[in-house]
Amino acid sequence: MSVVIRATQVIDDPRLLDLLDAGERERADRRSDPHPFITAHALLRRLVADETGVDPRAIVFEKRCATCGTDRHGKPHVVGMRDVHVSVSYGERMAVAAVTTMGEVGVDVEDLASADFDGFGSVTLHPTECAQLADLGGRELLGARAQLWSRKEAILKATGHGLVVDPSQVVVSAHDAPAELVEWKAAQHLPGPMRVSDLDVGHSDHRAAVAVLTSSPLAVRTQRG
Ligand SMILES: CC(C)(COP(=O)(O)OP(=O)(O)OC[C@H]1O[C@@H](n2cnc3c(N)ncnc32)[C@H](O)[C@@H]1OP(=O)(O)O)[C@@H](O)C(=O)NCCC(=O)NCCS
Repeated sequence: MSVVIRATQVIDDPRLLDLLDAGERERADRRSDPHPFITAHALLRRLVADETGVDPRAIVFEKRCATCGTDRHGKPHVVGMRDVHVSVSYGERMAVAAVTTMGEVGVDVEDLASADFDGFGSVTLHPTECAQLADLGGRELLGARAQLWSRKEAILKATGHGLVVDPSQVVVSAHDAPAELVEWKAAQHLPGPMRVSDLDVGHSDHRAAVAVLTSSPLAVRTQRG
């Protein structure tokens, strides 16, 4: 089995709403710009449907928070498909979804602009990672930051911790080296071996990564919409 990734630019298409369930439509309604949410959740439904043969409208997602145990937020799972693991990520302009049976999965897409603030290093990076970026500037620096950030978030979405874990304690490989989790320094338990892969989502202003809790090498199939 591979990890199947589907990436698309955010679109405004009213037909996508028909794919969402009542809870998703309600959440979309609460947003000042609902299109990223709608695009992402329709994308995830279509991807899972295509990989499992189930009608996209018939898929039921549930959430579970690894920290407090509630079903009101946290990592998404597909009800009745225990072996099918999913993840979704979206920003103003891009949405990415992932599905696999290899293990718990996390996917993340980052706009370069989101990495453009003073203090990015102290909030998100380990000192060894800051040192690796020291000679970079301009767009190259933003690209490197966004790549490292997407790897860390993908890893923390695969474990289900999210940003409850300090991302500076999740040390990843250098931005221009193959993606991997180098060291888990966080106090929280790392559930198992982790594989990471950078993704090309077909948009030069974005960086993305996927992480899976598995010891097997990742075979990643990326589909772009
Ligand atoms: C997971 C997280 C890093 C995503 O951040 P983001 O960059 O804003 O959002 P992305 O677009 O990349 O991903 C959003 C999706 O991640 C998923 N997600 C949310 N929490 C998750 C978790 N703990 N693990 C894995 N995936 C999670 C959801 O599918 C969510 O989409 P939705 O809100 O539309 O349903 C962030 O929301 C987070 O850290 N959440 C956990 C906070 C937490 O657990 N606090 C403790 C509460 S007791």
